[in-house]
Amino acid sequence: MGEGSGTDQTHGARHVAIIMDGNGRWAKKRGLPRAIGHQRGVEAVRRLVRAVEPMKLDCLTLYAFSSENWKRPEDEVDDLMNLMRKFIKSDLAEFVANNVKLRIIGDWQSLAPDIVGMLEDALEQTSHGTQTLAVALNYGGQSEIARAATKAAERGQITPETIEAQLDTNDLPPLDLLIRTSGEVRLSNFLLWQAAYAEMMFVDTLWPDFKPEHLQAALDDFAQRERRYGGRK
Ligand code: FPP
Repeated sequence: MGEGSGTDQTHGARHVAIIMDGNGRWAKKRGLPRAIGHQRGVEAVRRLVRAVEPMKLDCLTLYAFSSENWKRPEDEVDDLMNLMRKFIKSDLAEFVANNVKLRIIGDWQSLAPDIVGMLEDALEQTSHGTQTLAVALNYGGQSEIARAATKAAERGQITPETIEAQLDTNDLPPLDLLIRTSGEVRLSNFLLWQAAYAEMMFVDTLWPDFKPEHLQAALDDFAQRERRYGGRK
């Protein structure tokens, strides 16, 4: 996909990515188990995905599980994987009905075989959608770049263009806006290459509290930014 103009409501942004952070703190503040924070995090995902089509956003990319998240305690990793299974089961039909096209980025084929199977089925069933939901699973930006560079080298020259053509995101629009919730100000190995010219926004809202209004506010803020891509006016 080339550079487009987006829509009035997105102020020209076509691709927004979010680091969904703060589920644990959301639960802790309420004296609840972390698992409940993650569950409420899934509800925030669902609310946002429902808003993507009416907003006419071309692509929303969500960081659901990083390649470093395996370091978390086993029961928390299990909780996150089970939430993934449940989410696909419960929401796939709605994705299809709402023209959401699922994409997965990261090393997702090495997840549990049943999840891989469910994802393959979901990719197939949503392949005709018009708005893309890209989910980063077992994703790390550095390893994505290393994999892409290896493939580029196998085909000949390594240049920014040949690497970019091999990234997991090669069929997604250029990244316009990257949001991280919960007040942390770092990229945590997410979309390192793609963030080169993206606008960044760090908001204090904890992920389970994030609503489509917050996304709209971020897009309104994006509209005020002047993007120069290294040039000057
Ligand atoms: C960060 O919260 C969030 C994650 C590690 C995973 C994000 C996952 C979800 C929102 C649920 C699963 C998603 C789908 C699409 C089914 P944290 O635990 O790091 O919070 P903390 O920093 O407050 O401890």
